[in-house]
Amino acid sequence: MDDNTPDEVFAEFRSRDLGGWGVAQIAAGTGLAVYAMWVGVLQPGFRKVPLRLQVPYMPASKAQVGNVMTLLKGRKGGLVDLGSGDGRIVLEARQQGLTPAIGYELNPWLVRLARFKAWRAGYHGKVSYRRENLWKVDLTECKNVTVFLAPSVLSLLQEKLQAELPDDALVVAGRFPFPDWKPCRTEGMGVDRAWAYNIKAQRQHTCKKNGTVTCDLGHDLTEGKKTLES
Ligand SMILES: C[S@@+](CC[C@H](N)C(=O)[O-])C[C@H]1O[C@@H](n2cnc3c(N)ncnc32)[C@H](O)[C@@H]1O
Repeated sequence: MDDNTPDEVFAEFRSRDLGGWGVAQIAAGTGLAVYAMWVGVLQPGFRKVPLRLQVPYMPASKAQVGNVMTLLKGRKGGLVDLGSGDGRIVLEARQQGLTPAIGYELNPWLVRLARFKAWRAGYHGKVSYRRENLWKVDLTECKNVTVFLAPSVLSLLQEKLQAELPDDALVVAGRFPFPDWKPCRTEGMGVDRAWAYNIKAQRQHTCKKNGTVTCDLGHDLTEGKKTLES
C-alpha cells in the first residue's frame, strides 16, 4: 500500500503538469456533475413552470427560521409555506401550535425529505407536504403564509396573495422583502431578516395609491380594478 500522507499526495498532484487536455477533462467532468445534480435532484417538477418563475432550492438558515417564527408568535389558525423545501418552516410552525401546517413544493425529492424529517421528529401525520405548484394553490382560506423565494417572482406573488388571502391574513417573507408592500414588523438583520405583512393594510395602501376608497369594503382585486375602470 502507498503510505503517503494526504499532504504529500496533494503536493505531488499540484506539482504535476495537467496540461490543456487534463484541465479540459476536469472542467467537463465538473460541468457534467453539476448538470446531473441540477437535472436529477433540483430540477424535477419544474418542467411546466416558466423559466422566469423557477426558484432554486436554498434552505432557510436557523436564524432566518427563528425570525420568521418570532413574527408568527401569537398567531392562530393554519400556516402555508409556499415552496417548502425540506419542510423546516412547516415543522417549526406546527411545533409552535399553528395547525394545519402545510408545505407546497414542486421538487419530489424535497417533498420526500420533508416527510422523512417530519417522521423523524415525531410529526408524521401532523404536518402535510404536498407536491403542488404554488402558483396554482387556492389561498382563500389561509391565515398565515410564509415565503422564501427569489426577488424576481415576489412582485407577481404579491398580486396573487393580495387577490386571494382573507383580510386577517399575515404574510411573512424571509431573506427578500416584497417590493411594493409595507411591512408591519421586521425581525433580524442581513440575510436572516424577515418581514411581516398584514394583508388588510396592504389592500388599503394599494387602494390609497390608486386613489379610491371603494376597495376598503372588500378584498377582491378584480372588483377593485373594475371600480377603478368604471
Ligand atoms: C429558497 S427555497 C426555500 C425553501 C424553504 N421554504 C425554506 O425556507 O427553507 C424555495 C423553494 O421553493 C420551491 N419552489 C419554487 N417554485 C415553486 C413552485 N412553483 N411551486 C412549488 N414550489 C416551488 C423550490 O423547489 C425550493 O425548494
